[in-house]
Amino acid sequence: MDVSKFAKKELLAMGGGSSTRAAVTPDPKLINLGAGDPDFNQPNFINKAVYDAMKQGHTHYEFTGVPEFKNAIAKYYAKYGVKIDPNTQLCIDSGGSQAIFRAFGAILNPGDEIILLDPAYQGYFQPAAYFGAKMVRVAMKKDKKGLWRPDVPAIAKACTPKTKAIMICSPDNPTGAVYTEKELKALADVCIDKDILCISDEIYTEFIWGRKKFIPTMSIKGMEDRTLALMSFSKTFAWTGCRAGYTIASPEFSTLLNNVPIGIIGMPVPFQYAGAAALEKGWGFVRKMRKEYKKRIDFSVKRLNEIKGIKCAYPEGTFYVFPDISEVGMPAAKFGQELLLQEKLRGAPGTGYGQAAEGHIRFALVDKMDRLEDAWNRVEHFVKKNGKK
Ligand SMILES: Cc1ncc(COP(=O)(O)O)c(C=O)c1O
Repeated sequence: MDVSKFAKKELLAMGGGSSTRAAVTPDPKLINLGAGDPDFNQPNFINKAVYDAMKQGHTHYEFTGVPEFKNAIAKYYAKYGVKIDPNTQLCIDSGGSQAIFRAFGAILNPGDEIILLDPAYQGYFQPAAYFGAKMVRVAMKKDKKGLWRPDVPAIAKACTPKTKAIMICSPDNPTGAVYTEKELKALADVCIDKDILCISDEIYTEFIWGRKKFIPTMSIKGMEDRTLALMSFSKTFAWTGCRAGYTIASPEFSTLLNNVPIGIIGMPVPFQYAGAAALEKGWGFVRKMRKEYKKRIDFSVKRLNEIKGIKCAYPEGTFYVFPDISEVGMPAAKFGQELLLQEKLRGAPGTGYGQAAEGHIRFALVDKMDRLEDAWNRVEHFVKKNGKK
């Protein structure tokens, strides 16, 4: 049956589906560095905490999140210098994606504008389109090290009376940039001057390399009430399938977020208890993952830079590399398709994140070192065979 007569027009306009691990046809030779799904499994004590919570009868309605979970989140965020009231400043969701949907749903009317940087995580596009908002893309700029930075004057210029918010991501997927205090302050000036909000995606907080440190947007003067900070357990605790996330906002915005009608609460109660356990006892596991990701990044950046035609900046955060492949002389989408076809290696072409990222491809370092070694050998072989001579 043709559903177009019945469908919400914004949904029809979106077209195709998403690419996850499961969507890829299983092929033993395939190395899938496309999706950012950690190859670590969440530790058993977390799984057990879910079961224990169920055994203890924590299986009932809970309208705004259980206190144990909300207190643990507030304690965690205080580590970064932001004190929040767990009772009035949190909105619990089943993952960062739901938090994005809820934040957009709370503020965007059809015709409103939201500033999305270019490149930006694709998960912002569909919710913005779904709510009928106009996405105003502002290209990031590369610095001397080849790292992408927000172009604050261009962001200010892109604001109109219809602009409701700017969406940022630090540490940034796909670029690996971690915003400096100076950048955040400059962005805050724009938000205050133009009277707009900042939706701050902070889900890669625990994956920062070198001397960079995480600065919550909410910690910047004047941004306490203007920030909706989105968090997720997907990357922090390798929890992509179990779904856990939350938004930190002012009490007024939290009320608004909790009014978005997507069920009484987004995250099953037993998992909230497990979330509290993870925030209390999960840091050894996070350290282990971090050590391994760092090793993978060190190796991958060095190895990719050895390949003629490829330039790979060292990411300040996240577990992605986002090499510049423009000298290979092939559009990013074709590079991605052919790499998959010829070498059975999957990456995510830069243009999926925006036109500014033409000539780039993102690889998620979610496989073991020997497999990564194999992957970069495949890239080298591919480039030698198909690249500009
Ligand atoms: C920047 C960013 N935000 C949000 C998400 C969504 O995460 P979740 O799995 O919690 O829905 C992702 C997932 O890759 C992401 O990279």
